[in-house]
Amino acid sequence: MGYVKLLFFMLFSLLCQLAFCSSLSHLCPKDQALALLQFKHMFTLSPYASAYCEFSHPKTLSWNKSINCCSWDGVYCDETTGHVIELNLTCSKLQGKFQANSSLFQLSNLKRLDLSDNDFSGSLISPKFGEFSSLTHLDLSYSSFTGLIPAQISRLSKLQVLSIKSNQYDELRFGPHNSELLLKNLTRLGELHLSSVNISSTIPLNFSSYLTTLDLGDTQLYGILPKRVFHLSNFESLDLSFNPQLTVRFPTTKWNSSASLMNLYLNRVDATGRIPESFGHLTSLRTLDLLSCNLSGSIPKPLWNLTNVEVLDLRDNHLEGPISDFFRFGKLRWLSLGNNNFDGQLDGLQNLQRLNLSSNHLNGTIPSWIFSLPSLRQLDLRYNGNIQEFYSKSFDVVSLKQNQMEATTPFGLDDEEEEEGDSAMISWQAVLMGYGCGLVIGLSIIYIMLSTQYPAWFSRMDIELEHRIIKRMKRHKKRY
Ligand SMILES: *[C@@H]1O[C@H](CO)[C@@H](O)[C@H](O)[C@H]1NC(C)=O
Ligand SMILES: *[C@@H]1O[C@H](CO)[C@@H](O)[C@H](O)[C@H]1NC(C)=O
Ligand SMILES: *[C@@H]1O[C@H](CO)[C@@H](O)[C@H](O)[C@H]1NC(C)=O
Ligand SMILES: *[C@@H]1O[C@H](CO)[C@@H](O)[C@H](O)[C@H]1NC(C)=O
Ligand SMILES: *[C@@H]1O[C@H](CO)[C@@H](O)[C@H](O)[C@H]1NC(C)=O
Ligand SMILES: *[C@@H]1O[C@H](CO)[C@@H](O)[C@H](O)[C@H]1NC(C)=O
Ligand SMILES: *[C@@H]1O[C@H](CO)[C@@H](O)[C@H](O)[C@H]1NC(C)=O
Ligand SMILES: *[C@@H]1O[C@H](CO)[C@@H](O)[C@H](O)[C@H]1NC(C)=O
Ligand SMILES: *[C@@H]1O[C@H](CO)[C@@H](O)[C@H](O)[C@H]1NC(C)=O
Ligand SMILES: *[C@@H]1O[C@H](CO)[C@@H](O)[C@H](O)[C@H]1NC(C)=O
Ligand SMILES: *[C@@H]1O[C@H](CO)[C@@H](O)[C@H](O)[C@H]1NC(C)=O
Repeated sequence: MGYVKLLFFMLFSLLCQLAFCSSLSHLCPKDQALALLQFKHMFTLSPYASAYCEFSHPKTLSWNKSINCCSWDGVYCDETTGHVIELNLTCSKLQGKFQANSSLFQLSNLKRLDLSDNDFSGSLISPKFGEFSSLTHLDLSYSSFTGLIPAQISRLSKLQVLSIKSNQYDELRFGPHNSELLLKNLTRLGELHLSSVNISSTIPLNFSSYLTTLDLGDTQLYGILPKRVFHLSNFESLDLSFNPQLTVRFPTTKWNSSASLMNLYLNRVDATGRIPESFGHLTSLRTLDLLSCNLSGSIPKPLWNLTNVEVLDLRDNHLEGPISDFFRFGKLRWLSLGNNNFDGQLDGLQNLQRLNLSSNHLNGTIPSWIFSLPSLRQLDLRYNGNIQEFYSKSFDVVSLKQNQMEATTPFGLDDEEEEEGDSAMISWQAVLMGYGCGLVIGLSIIYIMLSTQYPAWFSRMDIELEHRIIKRMKRHKKRY
């Protein structure tokens, strides 16, 4: 009797669960589940395939045909039709050839597709991607696709976000006029990320007025950047770094993007001339990177109104004027003015994390505020006029090379110790670790240059670390 009751209860609760489940989420169509499973079996899972992700997880591992595919990791279905409309397999450790006839192309209802940060080395981007006519978001970045980006991508006329960021050695490129076609046809595009794809053309005039983000760093662009880019209202971020053949002429009148523009990365483009006063209207600007743009003259007065700037890099130009003006930017975290003609004395800034003033004409003493800045991690004051005094406790980088200074270091080292080779190395490491720098972890740059000569081992380590960091930064297109 008790057993019958129990059995009845179990059956009842099972039925309840089934009813509850089916009212919550639709069963995904069998053919779409099958297509996904076929796709899954084209790849192996490799711990190295998503090595550059902060978090990676093999999402396809949980895919199981006895479970409704709408609840698989990375798969999302339409609530009314039950069709698979989103597939997000970013950082999923997938490794293998991406076939041109992949079963993925059967998921014709997809609106968002993210295959970024996997390893499809040697695979071409199939022209069939152009058949996902409902796509609004497509991300194929850093998955080692190679070869030509097919013209069929231009058929995705609903795209709002297109991201095919690459590494140079993948040799992804556009055929002649295909980038033009793309911009002409994708009239709803808001974000375009194509860094390190070989575009090798001029930037055409014809682009979406919805654009907010244009990320075309290291794409072999040439010609003159159309001024229209600066006049897109709502425009937020422009990255054209590492395009030395590209000429940028800033508008001299107020830009239509003035209120919205936050990030301007124009590192190593040709912007020969002065910084125009029109920059003074960019009230939202956070990051300004004009490294090595052949800029000259002094900083125009209206620029000192840009009080929101946090990262400023004007290295390797011919700019001049008193350094003290920069210390009006109260929010600055990173300030790099190295290799210019700035002069004068140093003043105070609270939020600084990195300060690079090397190769200018600064003089006087290093003011004590530098050593009380709570966040400062890097300081480079090499090759200036006549800076004196040095005392540091917790910097990752301190460079005072080529200053005629009297070094009083907290480490108590002198030239004799430096030349002792291996034994000196041990004591330096011990001292550095004692100061809590990330020497062993190797993620922070650590080099200390007190004079023109420093131990060879130190220089080796310095170069090696710098290479690692530069590689990492390039990989993620993060320049800071
Ligand atoms: C799929 O799920 C069933 C039932 O939950 C389980 O028995 C089976 O081992 C799973 N298969 C895989 C490949 O995970
Ligand atoms: C895709 O093409 C390859 C040969 O290129 C073939 O071996 C494979 O069976 C095809 N797969 C599908 C799903 O048609
Ligand atoms: C995929 O997921 C990641 C993190 O879970 C998210 O940042 C990204 O925007 C998603 N991609 C798309 C196209 O929605
Ligand atoms: C441009 O988009 C339309 C759909 O809006 C499409 O029919 C056409 O083929 C596309 N042109 C190219 C060259 O891709
Ligand atoms: C980029 O493509 C152009 C022509 O398409 C070619 O001449 C050039 O060598 C390529 N550049 C790189 C760095 O691959
Ligand atoms: C793009 O070019 C076509 C003709 O070449 C022109 O009619 C159209 O107005 C242009 N669109 C934009 C946004 O400039
Ligand atoms: C800037 O915006 C104004 C007002 O919206 C508009 O009239 C003008 O044509 C725009 N300028 C450019 C160069 O796009
Ligand atoms: C900059 O600020 C000054 C006053 O602090 C103001 O007179 C001037 O109009 C501002 N310039 C711009 C371009 O906003
Ligand atoms: C840099 O600017 C100077 C004028 O200030 C000009 O003579 C020179 O040609 C420019 N160099 C490059 C590489 O554009
Ligand atoms: C400071 O700037 C100079 C000039 O661009 C550069 O050579 C040096 O490596 C920079 N220092 C640091 C610590 O990044
Ligand atoms: C520092 O430079 C300024 C401006 O170049 C100059 O007026 C001043 O005399 C210099 N001071 C020292 C101590 O060299």
